[in-house]
Amino acid sequence: MLEKIKQTAEFIQNIIQETPDFAIVLGSGLGKLQEEVGAIHTLEYHEIPNFPQTTVVGHGGKLIYGILEGKKVLMMSGRFHYYEGHSMETVTFPFRVFKLLGIQNLIVSNASGGVNPNFRVADIMIIEDHINMMPEHPLRGKNIDELGPRFVDMSEPYNRKMIAVAEEVAKNLEIKVHKGCYVALQGPTFETPAEYGMVRAIGGDAVGMSTVPEVIVAKHMGMDCFGISIITDVGGPEIAFTVSHEEVLQAANKAMPNVIKIVKGLVKNYQ
Ligand code: HPA
Repeated sequence: MLEKIKQTAEFIQNIIQETPDFAIVLGSGLGKLQEEVGAIHTLEYHEIPNFPQTTVVGHGGKLIYGILEGKKVLMMSGRFHYYEGHSMETVTFPFRVFKLLGIQNLIVSNASGGVNPNFRVADIMIIEDHINMMPEHPLRGKNIDELGPRFVDMSEPYNRKMIAVAEEVAKNLEIKVHKGCYVALQGPTFETPAEYGMVRAIGGDAVGMSTVPEVIVAKHMGMDCFGISIITDVGGPEIAFTVSHEEVLQAANKAMPNVIKIVKGLVKNYQ
């Protein structure tokens, strides 16, 4: 495993020849950020040795290296979800590679269902903490000691300084943001009313199907993480409603310009 990670990192390093300041995962809600980066290199996943391949037809996925707000960024367009059938090792492989490239800061975005009664569709939530309810832990199995410890401190899963910078950016731009706890379930079904109730009862503010395995693996390797979520629907035990993928995408697109502004401000101002 480590050999493969090293091989992939070496391949990318030979092309980009730099150490990016940030890795940024373009989840739903941040996709158009790739139009704003001064791209220097674009690598399709299928061109990169050992890199996982997406299962979504027409979305091959790519890494984009370039300059955003004067900083060096490596963007990941197209992530790997556990519900697609990938192993946790595959879901988190790119993040192992990011660390070997010397990247210290990770920014992840996603779309999620809101369970906090104050949340409305197309609201933005900065992820302050998470609860891992996925059925398999990404660090299960033999520990790769070269990359991090067996038992990982998770007292600050999302970097407090990055959160503070992002909040300041949002305040200056008069963009309303919530802060809250993201609960990760495997999917691919959206939650039943009772499941939304459970997510709320255990302390969640939003629920989704990604992000947490990525952040766990990044923390294992000592990276600093920032997560931002678009609330694409709101649910609860008393709310009978339907969610469709189209509605999720619509809400994500509505909030995207503001999420992009916040992430750009964070990249610019965080040292
Ligand atoms: N659950 C509910 N709503 C959502 C999700 C989810 O996992 N992702 C985006 N909207």
